[in-house]
Amino acid sequence: MKVSTRLDFSPVTSDSAAIVHELYLNCPTYISLIGGDMPTLNDIRRELDTLRHDTRRQALLLMQENRPVGFLDYKVAYPDLHSATISLLLIEEKLQGQGLGKAAVEQLEAQLSGRMEQLYAVVYGNNEQAKRFWERVGFEHLRDSGPTLSWYMKSLK
Ligand code: ACO
Repeated sequence: MKVSTRLDFSPVTSDSAAIVHELYLNCPTYISLIGGDMPTLNDIRRELDTLRHDTRRQALLLMQENRPVGFLDYKVAYPDLHSATISLLLIEEKLQGQGLGKAAVEQLEAQLSGRMEQLYAVVYGNNEQAKRFWERVGFEHLRDSGPTLSWYMKSLK
């Protein structure tokens, strides 16, 4: 069922680690798909700390009616000055398939349009669902870097 898909982008702060951790805990299928262990709260704290030191990296909570429903991590001016790259879009598992991921990408495109010429998405692991999603929202497959990284791209011009 499609739901209202207006999302607010809320920058992650040092207080957000528990919220981001909860989102990961609510996405067990994704964690097993990428073959990793469920991150601990401390893992998330360290990761968010690393993000904060990179001024081009944007980590956002996706809020729907004041409730966190997802996480978006992207980097501007990467891999070149005119591009941005999404490294993770994560929608809470029980809310997937309702249009939230698509809404997040469309809102990001609107925000970056005029500043960036290309938007890339890098899919890690054997994540066929994510690859179909990126194609469905208008990205084209560019290349695979080794067996576990697939690059997708959409022009914002
Ligand atoms: N297979 C085929 N099509 C799909 C799939 C799928 N598994 N998932 C979504 N789509 C299609 C939908 O049918 C829809 O098409 P439509 O517009 O014609 O109806 C379109 O993609 C948008 O679907 P949404 O409902 O917006 O997708 P969702 O909210 O579930 O978000 C996402 C997609 C982000 C992949 C989500 O399922 C998720 O968080 N998955 C787990 C984490 C993950 O794998 N994230 C991506 C990692 S790669 C990266 O972030 C660069």
